[in-house]
Amino acid sequence: MLADARRVVVLTGAGVSAESKIPTFRDAMEGLWASFDPQSLATPEGFAADPETVTRWYDFRRMKCREAEPNPGHLALARIERELESRSRDFILLTQNVDGLHRRAGNRSVVELHGSLEVWRCVETGQEFRDLPAPFDTYPPRTDRGTMLRPGVVWFGEMLPPEAIETAGERLDACDLFFSIGTSATVYPAAGFSDLARAAGAKTVEINPDATPASRHVDESVRARAGAVLPQIVELAFGAGNASPRGGNG
Ligand code: OAD
Repeated sequence: MLADARRVVVLTGAGVSAESKIPTFRDAMEGLWASFDPQSLATPEGFAADPETVTRWYDFRRMKCREAEPNPGHLALARIERELESRSRDFILLTQNVDGLHRRAGNRSVVELHGSLEVWRCVETGQEFRDLPAPFDTYPPRTDRGTMLRPGVVWFGEMLPPEAIETAGERLDACDLFFSIGTSATVYPAAGFSDLARAAGAKTVEINPDATPASRHVDESVRARAGAVLPQIVELAFGAGNASPRGGNG
C-alpha cells in the first residue's frame, strides 16, 4: 500500500517516542512531580495560579526531550517522507507529540497538533520564542520587557491551533493512505482522523502493540512496536536504504 500510495497522512502519538524513552505525560509526573495533578500543571488555570511550578515542570520535560534521540521508528518516518517526496507524492505527518523528535529525525512536513516544548510565547503579545537556553535561569521565564513566557503547548481546555486543524482536515480529505501510529486514539480531534481518512476513501493502517478504539475500523491493525515494524515496512516498500537523518540538528 505504501509503495503505491500517492497522498499519505501519518498521525503519531506518544507511543512513537516511547522507544526514545520520552516520559509520557503521566510518566513525567513522577518523582518530584508525583504530588501534582494534571489540572494544576497542564491547564491555563494551573498556570495562572502558579506559573513558577508549571514552567519548572515544562522546562524539566523540555530538557528530557533534548537528552533523547530519535529511534528507528522516527527515522523510518523520515525516510518515508524522503522517498515519497522524490516520487512527487504527498506526505504529511500530524503529531500529538510535543517533543520535536520527528523534526530532529529529518521530517520536514510536520504539523505539531499539540504544539512544542521548544516554543514558548509571551502571555501578552503571543510572540513566539525558540531555541531558548535550557534550563531557564528564572521561573517563570520572562521576555526582555519582563513579561511572562508560557510553553507553546496545548493545555487541557484549550483549542488546537486552528491552522493545524485546517491543514489536517484538508490533507485527510484528499489522502489515499492513512497511518495511525503509537496513539491511543482517544483524544479528539485526532481520534477522529482515521474516520475522516476512511470517508475520503483512504486505506487505513494502525501500528500499536495494543488494541485501541480505532483497531476494529482500520483496514490493517499491525500489533507491534513502531520502532520494530516501521523500518520493515519501509524496506518492503522502498528497499534497503539509508535511514539516517537528513541534516537534522542532532
Ligand atoms: P497515549 O499515552 O494516550 O497512548 C500511547 C499509545 O502508544 C498507546 O496506545 C500504547 O499502546 C502505544 N504504544 C506504546 N508503546 C508503543 C510503541 N513502541 N510503538 C507503538 N505504539 C506504542 O498517547 P497519545 O495517544 O499520544 O494531550 O495521547 C494523546 C494526547 O493525550 C497527548 O498528546 C496528551 C494526552 O493527554 C495533551 O497534552 C493535550
